[in-house]
Amino acid sequence: MKTIAFNSIKGGTGKSILSVLFINALVKSGFRCLAIDADASNNSLSFYYNESEHLESGSRKTVFNLFMGEKARNCVTGIKENLDLICGDVRLNEFRNTDSLKRLKRSLQEDTFYDFTVIDTSPTYDNITGNVLAASDILLIPIQQDIFSYQALKYQFEKLADLELENLDTHIVFNQFEKPLTDNQGAYRNQITNLFLEDETFKPFINPNCLSRSGVFRKYINKQNYRLNGRAETQKSYEEIKNLIHSILGIGITGAV
Ligand SMILES: Nc1ncnc2c1ncn2[C@@H]1O[C@H](COP(=O)(O)OP(=O)(O)OP(=O)(O)O)[C@@H](O)[C@H]1O
Ligand SMILES: [Mg+2]
Repeated sequence: MKTIAFNSIKGGTGKSILSVLFINALVKSGFRCLAIDADASNNSLSFYYNESEHLESGSRKTVFNLFMGEKARNCVTGIKENLDLICGDVRLNEFRNTDSLKRLKRSLQEDTFYDFTVIDTSPTYDNITGNVLAASDILLIPIQQDIFSYQALKYQFEKLADLELENLDTHIVFNQFEKPLTDNQGAYRNQITNLFLEDETFKPFINPNCLSRSGVFRKYINKQNYRLNGRAETQKSYEEIKNLIHSILGIGITGAV
């Protein structure tokens, strides 16, 4: 099993939409996936799969129970063939200052049922995020071309260094990307983009596959049945997400996402 975390300290960078795109692409390709909603401030993943609204407090096991030490298999809600979800829960906030970074790793250990576990997180650095990172093989950090994204990434890399997770395969991904302007090298967009690209700390981790800013992605996250495929409206975004998934997981997606 491979575990993929989506985290950035800046909000609204695309953690949730990328989590959903990866999950749907992997499920469509026949892989068994476990999705974990570890965002304690907004259960986007659970809402996308329509599960949060059916969740009466205390009636079902959630990510809270997972952090309490329950095994993953006891906390899942079946969504469809090849996809289980561990629902978000506001009580996860109890673990922001937990003293152990191994809680989640222990709960996921020995689970051989899933091919991939995908974890969406909130835009923070706390011990919930620390637990997610300690349990993950791959970290995907979506970024935007703005100065706060740059400052937040600097901070995040300091925290990652403290955690000493040498084997965490880290990818920085430009999302909502707008191409640099060829006729105006001094433009703000170009300067910010270069700030990331020329930073020695970030350079080795910047994935060359960007996701463009596109209304197609907005439609995707707002309509559960909206699919990306080869048709004219969605083709560019479809190619972008396929290329990104291939570069990170080495998997070729063939059908619609
Ligand atoms: N490539 C894109 N093109 C256009 N809109 C996008 C793109 N990526 C994300 N968005 C939009 O940006 C908003 C934020 O995306 P998303 O919720 O995935 O970010 P997030 O990092 O999970 O946010 P939060 O930090 O609040 O959890 C959403 O409305 C989403 O539809
Ligand atoms: Mg989110």
